[in-house]
Amino acid sequence: MNLVDKKENKFALTTPLYYVNDLPHIGSAYTTMAADVVARFQRLVGNSVLLITGTDEHGQKIQRSAEDKGESPQDFCDRMSAGFGSLWELLDIKHDRFIRTTNVRHQGIVKEFFQRVWDQGDIYLGQQKGWYCVSCEEFKEERELLEDHFCPLHPNKQAEWRDEENYFFRLSKYQSQLEELYKSQPDFIQPPSRRNEVLKFVEQGLQDFSISRVNVDWGFPVPGNSKHTLYVWFDALLGYVTALLPEDAEATLDNALAEWWPISLHLIGKDILRFHAVYWPAMLMSANLPLPGRVFGHGFLTKDGQKMGKSLGNTLDPFALREKYDADAIRYYFLKEIEFGKDGDFNEIRFINVLNADLANDLGNLLNRTLNMVKKYCGGQIPQVVSHDISTESPLKVIGLELTEKVKLAYEALAFSQACEAILFLVRASNKFIDEQAPWSLYKQGQQGTVEKVLYVVLESVRLAAYLLSPIIPNISSDIYQQLGFDINFNESLSSSIEAPLCVHGTWGLLSSEQKLGIARPIFKRIEPPESN
Ligand code: MSP
Repeated sequence: MNLVDKKENKFALTTPLYYVNDLPHIGSAYTTMAADVVARFQRLVGNSVLLITGTDEHGQKIQRSAEDKGESPQDFCDRMSAGFGSLWELLDIKHDRFIRTTNVRHQGIVKEFFQRVWDQGDIYLGQQKGWYCVSCEEFKEERELLEDHFCPLHPNKQAEWRDEENYFFRLSKYQSQLEELYKSQPDFIQPPSRRNEVLKFVEQGLQDFSISRVNVDWGFPVPGNSKHTLYVWFDALLGYVTALLPEDAEATLDNALAEWWPISLHLIGKDILRFHAVYWPAMLMSANLPLPGRVFGHGFLTKDGQKMGKSLGNTLDPFALREKYDADAIRYYFLKEIEFGKDGDFNEIRFINVLNADLANDLGNLLNRTLNMVKKYCGGQIPQVVSHDISTESPLKVIGLELTEKVKLAYEALAFSQACEAILFLVRASNKFIDEQAPWSLYKQGQQGTVEKVLYVVLESVRLAAYLLSPIIPNISSDIYQQLGFDINFNESLSSSIEAPLCVHGTWGLLSSEQKLGIARPIFKRIEPPESN
């Protein structure tokens, strides 16, 4: 399926805008790493890409967190938001836009959007009664809560009773339009399990939801009634629009939507599916704006089998993890080991084992031993072989010729784990091929021609594997490419997509004897397991 929407070659994607009540945890890093991989892949395919991330800074949860720290909400937000930016840098995430919902230009966009929805007659004043989970920033049905009104997503937080005047958005009016959307665009919500969840929810009948608060100061005032502030989610979703504003443009919807709208892909976690797959499209319908291409809700991460969350305090600190391990290692583990869309676990021993097996042993040793043999048996030059010289029965060529298409489909479907498995299959087959062919014996028997062919197909397979893995492990891929004599750095994402597009570098047989091999060095240092105690 082609992910690129209407506007030719343009692919805009978003991560959620993260709450700044605390420093980023691994859950926020997970979505952002995945988004960065998608962005890098889309660039290699030749699309113009805009990766949007940012922070969600209004609402009661943030207001209370700032009070607890004795800081003004704005100072608190400034400090916390900066932490997200630095983590993205540490993880080699190259976002194009970072939107903060306290940005003054955002208020202009929210105001204009509110007016459009108001003019449709979709906003009215009513009385909101119900249980509110401040950590979710969401009203809950009594049946959704645990005993004593504790929230299932934040089991140490009790929902609070509210009975107040709020403005409401007429969600119920969009029931059939939404149903029509899910029917006509079955891929709008992914994966299918999430789609079913939404269909069930909508089937029960949609109720209008409140979009203002009277007891929260930390938010934009409702246009025309400053007794109310806007509900944090109403303002937050519109952050995706504000993020599109060109730097010097006036904050108008027309300016924001001109170049990149509609967003091709919203990447989110499963807990915020309703907001993105139900409320958001309805808000856009009301404002008469085109809808995003798709919403993908990934699963939750656990640590050592235990649920992990900011409110529970058992989070895996991504900064500490990054201090111990390289960005590529972290990116690889989460994208390869966890099927995107399903829940997944982090366990340090497993982490070390996977990296040692895949990157140090399978990929790293393959490159290293092959380069050493090229040095010994071919004078350190890439053999003068071209793809045409290799039989179409050669097992690595057979795999290599089909690999790019397979991996492309996997990346497009956000099946990162499948992409890695397919690439690793070529790497493992290459190791097996060397063992079986035993170039050292062939060399002794004077079969120089065969030695050269064997080493060529293996080097070419390593190259292709490195290239196809570059959205996930850009540093290691660059290192391999440089050892193979290319002057390409996949971490310069824009230049690498121009210098090494998929249509050229995804073709098996690109490696040429004109390349001058670089110096062989290990691409991934084996990690020693921590001492057991
Ligand atoms: N501010 C809202 C999003 C507004 S988007 C316009 C929000 N922020 S959040 O910081 O609480 O969560 C951001 C993302 O982190 C969500 O997609 C959520 O699913 C994800 N995760 C939170 N805990 C997680 C795990 N334990 N595992 C994986 N992702 C998790 O919601």
